[in-house]
Amino acid sequence: MKILIKKGLIISPPEEFVGDIFINDGIIEAVGEHVFKEADRVIDASGKFVIPGGIDVHTHLDMPYSGEIKSRDDFYTGTVAAAFGGTTTIIDFPTQSKGKRLKETFFEWIDKAQQKAVIDYSFHMIVTDLNVLEDSDFKFLVDNGITSIKIFTAYPDRLMLNDRELFSIMMTAKKYNLLVMVHAENGIIIDELIKFALSRGYTQPKYHALSRPPVLEAEAINRVITYASLLDIPIYIVHTSSLEGLRVIKQSREKKKDVLAETCPQYLYLSLENISKNTDDDYKFVFTPPVREKWNQEFLWNGLSDNTLQVLSTDHCPFNFSDRMIGKDDFTKIPNGGAVIEHRLELSFKGVKQNKIDLKRWVEINSTNPAKIFGMYPTKGIIRVGSDADIVIWNPEIKRTISASNHHMNIDYSMFEGIESAGKAEIVISSGEIIIEDDQFIGKPGRGRFIQRKSFDKNLL
Ligand code: URP
Ligand code: ZN
Ligand code: ZN
Repeated sequence: MKILIKKGLIISPPEEFVGDIFINDGIIEAVGEHVFKEADRVIDASGKFVIPGGIDVHTHLDMPYSGEIKSRDDFYTGTVAAAFGGTTTIIDFPTQSKGKRLKETFFEWIDKAQQKAVIDYSFHMIVTDLNVLEDSDFKFLVDNGITSIKIFTAYPDRLMLNDRELFSIMMTAKKYNLLVMVHAENGIIIDELIKFALSRGYTQPKYHALSRPPVLEAEAINRVITYASLLDIPIYIVHTSSLEGLRVIKQSREKKKDVLAETCPQYLYLSLENISKNTDDDYKFVFTPPVREKWNQEFLWNGLSDNTLQVLSTDHCPFNFSDRMIGKDDFTKIPNGGAVIEHRLELSFKGVKQNKIDLKRWVEINSTNPAKIFGMYPTKGIIRVGSDADIVIWNPEIKRTISASNHHMNIDYSMFEGIESAGKAEIVISSGEIIIEDDQFIGKPGRGRFIQRKSFDKNLL
């Protein structure tokens, strides 16, 4: 299919200009002020923004939680919702179960995704059990384009690695040139605070937040950055939620430029106020790291603007309200996670409208930087000849009120209910195919491709 997009404001950092784009067979074949080509479809994008498709590098689709409970979006519903929001690539997290080889985990996740994903996808591998790691598995991962792993300093007994294990896996990462991503909170001390809270009968959702104070995020961030510095490897901190955490990252980046970090829309829009009403509503806002005091939001926006934070991801991990009621009498049993995959571009575009970030920065944090950091650039994250035709035509004038009644995620409530967002992905093109138009999804399950990524290259930043 040949598509000609005419007269849109093309925002592809560092460039921004009014022009045309010609797409042929899934690839961008021409970009310029005036492109004259015969096409099967001509789209008039006057007054609209034309941007590289969003890349969400932090999702948990079809993720086993406990017992029968899994995150509610699978690779079909989750990627359809992502596409509605203007995201055309995700990187999901296969989670190694204890005793399982990484290779097996990879195949398990490929099986979940292959027949369902409607946009391109890749994986970062979560490593939880060092007893069953084999060199051949790491080689297998890299040979298949999985060039990042994720480790946890939180969730003892389930996902957490101790310091010896953290350091050891970082050494392995150095050997295979894998980018290490870390969920950084001090899980041991949090466990003690949780025990204390429960012993006092503090069982409501707000104690999820109060037992995970920001200093324990900052401590863990500092610890893992210290190990990464010793080994001289890059490190990427996921879901930064607080000023304390941000400060450590900012200071570290003064000495070590390959300290990288993201935040997520929930930390920009939600706060302790949401979880402290002492009503059943509070159960909707349990995710980890938790909501913080509202004033942190301004610092996180500044961090996105001044490049302390390079990426906005979603940590999409949806559970229904009814799933959460398992924790009715004990906040530690509430499945953690929020449904966000659909709202990343519109909630951050609201920040553009409010002068918190500028237009190019909006594209950088949602698309260009994710592509650069995670080995997909310049195939993705940019509009230029030869790149994948993953393109969003964004209407900057539309405002809408976010609600469970109009979202496409497979979850029965919205954490952002009633919040007004800004802009809208009117047409979404993935690999040269229009998949969203006129508020309809018109692609097919399984059309998304598994993307093999290159190793992290700090020269791109
Ligand atoms: O609450 C969250 N974020 N759940 C998903 C797992 C994680 O910690 O990223
Ligand atoms: Zn996490
Ligand atoms: Zn996560």
